[in-house]
Amino acid sequence: QGIRPMQISLEELKRHSTKEDAWTTLGGKVYNISPYLRYHPGGVKELMRCAGRDGTRLFNITHMWVNYERLLSNCFIGYLVPGGGS
Ligand code: HEM
Repeated sequence: QGIRPMQISLEELKRHSTKEDAWTTLGGKVYNISPYLRYHPGGVKELMRCAGRDGTRLFNITHMWVNYERLLSNCFIGYLVPGGGS
């Protein structure tokens, strides 16, 4: 059995918005995107737009055909706590 995934609030997610420590959430899953930044075909700046916040909408309007669950499987850290407002 692996390490139990974390339950992460939006408030906690917001604290991780720098290149060195960038988290985002896509479809309720939270990822540490810092290691992926240098590999993103759309560039660092674009990907950083979803750092520290819910990136689902931005991701979907740019490339909803991309399989992020596969690409970011090693970056998965936990689940967003449902609700919690803005
Ligand atoms: C391209 C992954 C988030 C903007 C791509 C491509 C992949 C990818 C695989 C190449 C797609 C293709 O050629 O068909 C990801 C992953 C993300 C993410 C895993 C989630 C963390 C974002 C966000 C934005 C963005 C949040 C914008 C705010 C772009 C753009 C391209 C691109 C503009 C096109 C680059 C080009 O073809 O010149 N991304 N992306 N991506 N991405 Fe992302």
